Amino acid sequence: MKFYVGSDHAGFAVKGLVVEMLKSGGHDVVDLGPENAERVDYPDYAEKVSRAVLSDDGSFGILICGTGIGMSIAANKIDGIRAAHCNDYYTAQMARAHNDANILCFGERVSGPGVIESMIEAFTTTGFEGGRHKGRVEKIMALQKSH
Ligand code: RB5
Repeated sequence: MKFYVGSDHAGFAVKGLVVEMLKSGGHDVVDLGPENAERVDYPDYAEKVSRAVLSDDGSFGILICGTGIGMSIAANKIDGIRAAHCNDYYTAQMARAHNDANILCFGERVSGPGVIESMIEAFTTTGFEGGRHKGRVEKIMALQKSH
């Protein structure tokens, strides 16, 4: 799978780890920054990763901030993005299976490396189930266009 990865300063330390985890799992990874732990604004990186995912068909994103909340709120403002704020294996698995999430978000201040590895495992090995979930996801996408 192809992944675009980004963080803010509060997710910077874990971003390197995530890039390594993805690469060692055989995935194609583009690190969209930041390049150091200086303070930055998470919406800027949420936008960078979201736009990259939308411009590269079939790709996915990972966004890390302190909690994962700001990144997911920001990314979900962009039409076409389904960013899932996850905390464990199950939520990451369901984000793909039921919500067809194209971006995984989590918090460096919330989740340790073992849990992060398990979320990446769940996200990369689970496909969208479709069926009854397809119409629901379509309704979500229609909401984005309705304002
Ligand atoms: C930065 O201090 C923090 O607010 C940010 O990383 C994130 O947790 C916001 O949702």
